[in-house]
Amino acid sequence: MNAPLQPGALAAQVVVWQAEHGRNSLPWQNTQDPYRVWLSEIMLQQTQVATVRGYFARFMDALPTVQDLALASLDEVLGLWSGLGYYSRARNLHRCAQDVVRLHGGAFPRTAELLVTLPGIGRSTAAAISSLCFGERVAILDANVKRVVTRVLGFDGDLALAAQERALWNAATDLLPAAEVAAQSMARYTQGMMDLGATVCLPKKPLCLLCPLQSACRACAAGDPQRYPVRTRKLKRSSQSIWLLWAQTAGGAVWLQARPTPGVWAGLQCFPLFDSEAALMDAVPLQRRAAMQPQATFVHVLTHKDLHLHPWRLTLENEADLDALSGQWVAAAQWPAMGLPAPIRKLLASA
Ligand code: ADE
Ligand code: SF4
Repeated sequence: MNAPLQPGALAAQVVVWQAEHGRNSLPWQNTQDPYRVWLSEIMLQQTQVATVRGYFARFMDALPTVQDLALASLDEVLGLWSGLGYYSRARNLHRCAQDVVRLHGGAFPRTAELLVTLPGIGRSTAAAISSLCFGERVAILDANVKRVVTRVLGFDGDLALAAQERALWNAATDLLPAAEVAAQSMARYTQGMMDLGATVCLPKKPLCLLCPLQSACRACAAGDPQRYPVRTRKLKRSSQSIWLLWAQTAGGAVWLQARPTPGVWAGLQCFPLFDSEAALMDAVPLQRRAAMQPQATFVHVLTHKDLHLHPWRLTLENEADLDALSGQWVAAAQWPAMGLPAPIRKLLASA
């Protein structure tokens, strides 16, 4: 039914399709600057394009080069990241910029093999940067592209198994543009595969009629694209309850402490957190406990965990000392620019 095609034939169709139907005017496109491409790829790992646009513009305004980022304080970087979530990305970003400056003379390495040695850059991101910026012939395989490749090939190996994951990487490499045309095709091919995954080969209802790979696609021919990709192991989710001390003065200053590393919200400025209501009360000076006011409980969803948050508010006339607690008062003019976890920011905004 589907005759095997020439090596590179499918890739050539992706390249033609991308030029006409792909996304070609995003703020991190039409550049070969690896700093812009790297920053956008990290932001896009867990965040939608629409959200990334604004963050990307603000980040580039504040820190236009890898040297600027390397010299910035972690607090400034976390502040620029604030609201994007997955803050290990921001910490790795900062370390990566410092490594590029310190170990690579301020220029990003030009191969995926070297890029993958840098903090926060995995195999697929390394390949995205080197193919988009330098035309290297290497395969990307993020979640969107996995969907496209498994469907086209009818690849039904269980991706929970390392051996199947490896086999899929090899299959994705076999699909790349032919070596002779790689230099001029790779950027468009990489972008095209991302675009297909994001706009055509959708998880629930793939738009096969619009797909340049339709005539070759095994899953489409069999009528079962939703079967792919196959992955058996379920993420184990856990849940945790956390009590928060939301202490604030009439003037708007809040009591914040830096979260330890490792742990939830490592490195961010946060309300003091406790494992129980009793532990929270113990931390508050005796004469202030009567003024504590429970707030509505809410759930904050992390990758592997649901956090049940129980905020208690303590409003004070002035910056009375909460000596038993580590942390500090941060003025109303200061905390909005700091790296705060999104739910803490939301609470403060709701007040
Ligand atoms: N998601 C990951 N990389 C992307 C890119 N370069 N363009 C659009 N979406 C993406
Ligand atoms: Fe995905 Fe359909 Fe295209 Fe196959 S033909 S790659 S299932 S959109």
